[in-house]
Amino acid sequence: MTKRFPPAPPRDLPLAGARPSADARALLALRKSANKLILGEPGPSPEELDELLGVAMRVPDHRKLGPWRFVVFEGEARTQFGAELGRILRGRSAADQQVEEAEKSMLRAPVVVAVISSPVEDGRTPVWEQELSAGALCYNLLLAANASGWAGVWLSEWAAYDKDAGVLLALTSSERVAGFVHLGTAKAPTPERVRAGPEGRIQRWKGA
Ligand SMILES: Cc1cc2nc3c(=O)[nH]c(=O)nc-3n(C[C@H](O)[C@H](O)[C@H](O)COP(=O)(O)O)c2cc1C
Repeated sequence: MTKRFPPAPPRDLPLAGARPSADARALLALRKSANKLILGEPGPSPEELDELLGVAMRVPDHRKLGPWRFVVFEGEARTQFGAELGRILRGRSAADQQVEEAEKSMLRAPVVVAVISSPVEDGRTPVWEQELSAGALCYNLLLAANASGWAGVWLSEWAAYDKDAGVLLALTSSERVAGFVHLGTAKAPTPERVRAGPEGRIQRWKGA
């Protein structure tokens, strides 16, 4: 099932600026995150995931810095990371239920990818732009996964913002968790939800 995507084009090959595709339009118009409780086996294999990540990295990236990295949780690593999260909460005297939820949190999907924003602080490309690129990457990963038949959801939850959880991911002082992207197979459809519409959100510039 690997090699579902065309290979990366050679450098300097002129590429079309538009690629009309009814399938791509339908994917964008109908895409939906999975409810985090209905993701199950199977998930992408390590080879499939590597291919998805390779495609997902094809995002706008000012000055080609590649300001992101990934920590992948598959198989037993999910249990171990969950146990570490539970240990953090237990050390803070959290309620048993919270500890248990943390312990099981990574087992809600066969594959979880922590997308880490890892900005280069050379004073040239604003960190904000690099963090936006990490966000684009999370979304691109979801789209690449959806287009390959996998369901997914982008979560942060408390661990993304927790200093001790950050130590488990070896976050540096400038790095942040952009998201834990959960990937797998949807065991049930997820109902559509209320969505923000264009009302009041689109202004056309008419002068100062
Ligand atoms: C940065 C980011 C973090 C998110 N974290 C959570 C989260 O922790 N828990 C959650 O239920 N949804 C979270 N969401 C929302 C889901 O990813 C998803 O967008 C939402 O469930 C609606 O699904 P949709 O993508 O089909 O609109 C987050 C979204 C973003 C962009």
